[in-house]
Amino acid sequence: MNFAKQNIQEMSAYAGPKEDRTFYSGMLLDFGERTIAPSPKIIEALNEFAQNGRINIYPEYFNLNKKIAQYAGVSEDQILAVNGSDRAIDLIFRIFTDKGDKVIIPKPSFAMFFQSAEIEGCEIVSPIYDESLNYPIEEVLDEIDNKTKLIIICSPNNPTGTIVNSDEIEKIAKKALEFNSIVFIDEAYFEFSQVTAVPLIEKYPNIIISRTFSKAFGLAALRIGYAMASKEHIAEMLKIRSPYDVNMIASIATQVALDNVEYMQKYRDEVMNGSKPLIENFFKDNGIKFFDNSKANFLLFKPDSPEQVFEILDKNGVRTRPRKGSRIDGTIRLTIGTVEQMKKFIEIYSTVILAKAGIQ
Ligand SMILES: Cc1ncc(COP(=O)(O)O)c(C=O)c1O
Repeated sequence: MNFAKQNIQEMSAYAGPKEDRTFYSGMLLDFGERTIAPSPKIIEALNEFAQNGRINIYPEYFNLNKKIAQYAGVSEDQILAVNGSDRAIDLIFRIFTDKGDKVIIPKPSFAMFFQSAEIEGCEIVSPIYDESLNYPIEEVLDEIDNKTKLIIICSPNNPTGTIVNSDEIEKIAKKALEFNSIVFIDEAYFEFSQVTAVPLIEKYPNIIISRTFSKAFGLAALRIGYAMASKEHIAEMLKIRSPYDVNMIASIATQVALDNVEYMQKYRDEVMNGSKPLIENFFKDNGIKFFDNSKANFLLFKPDSPEQVFEILDKNGVRTRPRKGSRIDGTIRLTIGTVEQMKKFIEIYSTVILAKAGIQ
């Protein structure tokens, strides 16, 4: 017997990371994570908490909100820390949408937008990214009407890496405001693109932004992210976020990370200014198709035999992620890590794929 709501019964669970990642001995270049450990100061602080902290009492957050607010350049009442930005997505759908409401989620994009929309029973409208994988701005603008409750802008977008600039976001926010709809901007990869819609929050009360500590800061296992919005909307979100949504370990780690932002920046600079050009030149020099407009720490490449390439890389110590769907059939998403890791990727690709297998 199954008493779950009909729309939940009709859904499938989010197919998250495969369970065999932890013990994979090669390089994990499949999930857009930071590819090396976070700052040793974070590990020290966590060890200290494990030794001397009071694990038996509920979390107390001290300066968490203040530090996040300072880092993001908003006021403390415009911030809500959450259990990963997945939670922010979930809260936003729960607060702003009802069954049957129209939500605009351009495709291809991050699966959790679709998952949360289905949980609420929304009507999903999905304009398709253009052939160069740019956000379908005109189609989105055309779709905004009085049925529309929520518009998703993922910038940089997962899996395309492409961004939506401030002028375009403003166009959408302006039209959305006329129809009382929310514009939700997911900036999970902001640290890499360094492009943000934060300054628009003051002007457009219908804008909500989420970010995460899972990517550039390297805290994916601890589950912490944050939402930014007008203080009125943050107050609404606070009503339904559970009181201890963020655990103590995540809170401690985040505060230390924000006291040492330069540690994250050093990694970001290496990835974006060193590793990314290295990989792009490698693809170019070898005639391997790829999309060159990613502003994130990953890109999509399109070898002639993607399944074989994925399998061979995987057996040789490089885990990537094959992608399917609108515009991206036959692509593989590659997370860009350190220069050393990318040199290793290039060496493996050259010796076991280009030279030996004779495929591209
Ligand atoms: C665009 C986007 N948003 C949100 C998330 C989820 O991030 P978090 O770990 O903060 O839940 C991801 C993770 O891959 C993502 O790619």
